[in-house]
Amino acid sequence: MDPISDQDLIAAAIEGSKQAYIPYSNYRVGAALLTESGAVITGCNVENVGYSPTICAERTALVKAVSEGHRNFAAVAVVTRDGGSPCGVCRQALFEFSPAMKVLLADLDGNLCLSTTLADLLPHGFGPANLE
Ligand code: THU
Repeated sequence: MDPISDQDLIAAAIEGSKQAYIPYSNYRVGAALLTESGAVITGCNVENVGYSPTICAERTALVKAVSEGHRNFAAVAVVTRDGGSPCGVCRQALFEFSPAMKVLLADLDGNLCLSTTLADLLPHGFGPANLE
């Protein structure tokens, strides 16, 4: 399998964003996780009239991936209209599995806004090792 480029992963996140269910915020988010084995799993935000059941795109992709047997991630791309950064809950959810993963933030046209790592977005994070 050819390695997935950053731009390919961003394109997958844009594709994922097309399914976003966003009647309340109209803030479209797409995410694409790249597993260590080279698989790409996408997600979008899915909102709810009760507000708190809303799930972010990153966690949609994460639960899809984990439920399909993937637990090790090399990277995640997140796309929004303004290159927005993952919320704290999503940072924590991703940190559980791969704190070193690359994080690509881009806009809905595919322009890269920031390339960073999860460890940089969640310094001194609380992880599984804390409970060993
Ligand atoms: N949202 C995400 O999908 N990911 C984030 O990391 C931040 C926020 C969604 C949740 C909600 O549907 C909309 O963006 C506005 O908060």
